[in-house]
Amino acid sequence: MSANDRANFGSKLGVILASAGSAVGLGNIWRFPSELGSNGGAAFLLVYLLCIMFLGLPVMVSEFLIGRRSQANTATAYQKLAPGSKWHYVGLMGVFSAFLILSYYVVVAGWTLEYTVASVTNSFTDGTDYTKFFGDFVSNPWKSSLYVVLFMLLTHVVIVRGVTDGIERFSKVMMPLLLFIICILVICAFSMPGASEGLNFLLKPDFSKVTTKVVLSAMGQAFFSMSLGMGCLCTYASYFGRDTNLLRTAGSVAAIDTMVAVMAGIIIFPAVYSVPGLSVDAGPSLVFVTLPNVFNIAFHNAPVLGYVFSVMFYVLLVLAALTSTISLHEVVTAYISERFKLARKTGAYVVTISCTVLGILCSLSFGVLKGFTLFDMGLFDLFDFVSAKFLMPLSGMLIAIFTGWYLERKIVFDEVTNYGSIRMPLFKLYIFLLKYFAPIAIMSIFINELVK
Ligand code: TRP
Repeated sequence: MSANDRANFGSKLGVILASAGSAVGLGNIWRFPSELGSNGGAAFLLVYLLCIMFLGLPVMVSEFLIGRRSQANTATAYQKLAPGSKWHYVGLMGVFSAFLILSYYVVVAGWTLEYTVASVTNSFTDGTDYTKFFGDFVSNPWKSSLYVVLFMLLTHVVIVRGVTDGIERFSKVMMPLLLFIICILVICAFSMPGASEGLNFLLKPDFSKVTTKVVLSAMGQAFFSMSLGMGCLCTYASYFGRDTNLLRTAGSVAAIDTMVAVMAGIIIFPAVYSVPGLSVDAGPSLVFVTLPNVFNIAFHNAPVLGYVFSVMFYVLLVLAALTSTISLHEVVTAYISERFKLARKTGAYVVTISCTVLGILCSLSFGVLKGFTLFDMGLFDLFDFVSAKFLMPLSGMLIAIFTGWYLERKIVFDEVTNYGSIRMPLFKLYIFLLKYFAPIAIMSIFINELVK
């Protein structure tokens, strides 16, 4: 395929919404509140915002410029920009980690679908024991596998339609809907009895809580949430037009991503504080065990409201997860079909089938395959560790080094300024962050994760 007949996002809005769709995901609505809850609230938020600005943004712009410059999938991108070097392993590593992340991300995505069904069929207002409900669901091999298959199918349907008719068109409908739902939920949350306590927890920092662990968790979370280090944004940027302003796009995507994460906090913490005895420090089960208890107890006297709130919340999670699984799928599909000269559809089938199989195996690690461990981890935890905790920071760091040290400065300048047509007063700061700050900072997340 020549660069000219390569697919392209049709509009600037499409570019922003598709990239924001990749960034906004379970990371924002499930992982961010649980990290914030376990890491002392507002202090974590503050550090997180700094990480987005000084670490996430420069790396995001770098991924954008690598993708747009090369007009190719992630692995080929490095081959084009650094022919004959070993840099294409960074791209390959991205494809590989996207593949692994998709395989376990889809398990949690499947849970959100199950919870949507459960909330629609009214089971969050009937007094069930939700710890048991969750435990029973994740350990039921048939149910959890079924939802993995369903979620992969949903992702597949969008991917096979292509970049413009699938990803772009879908994001243009889903992202506004997602933003609409989240705004309604924020308004609801403000009217809950725990609103002021919840907002205090989110917005009043207690600086004594800023420990190294908090800083490093915030960095890792910023990376995951912005979809960095796995070639996602690099692949999407290969569909950007020549006139797309990379810095402005990265700014919008980061802003939407952060806004959604903060709004998820504004929804969840007031809700949790509205029920005495529930803790915000529930970790990953915050959304799947604590919140159903909130729906059940806090809305005891207004079950209809509880019903609407819970359905909207889980639909929101599904939408967020779906636009992210699509972006992860696209990384691998673009690579397979371009590298092995397959039709896009065939490439997509290969990815869907193999990720479904791996996804089912991951989901079974909460039940029948619990005893099957490698390095003391079940398959789900192993995939999470290898991809999100190991490969993602590693390739993020290499991306920063690649653009900061290896790539000719003129190429970087031309891409960031669209051949000098956009003024970029902060160019020197950008290069400084890439050359020195990002590699050192990411190296410390990395070491921290490894010695944990
Ligand atoms: N950013 C998404 C989220 O917050 C997840 C995601 C999609 C991702 N693509 C990625 C994470 C690439 C890391 C790398 O849920």
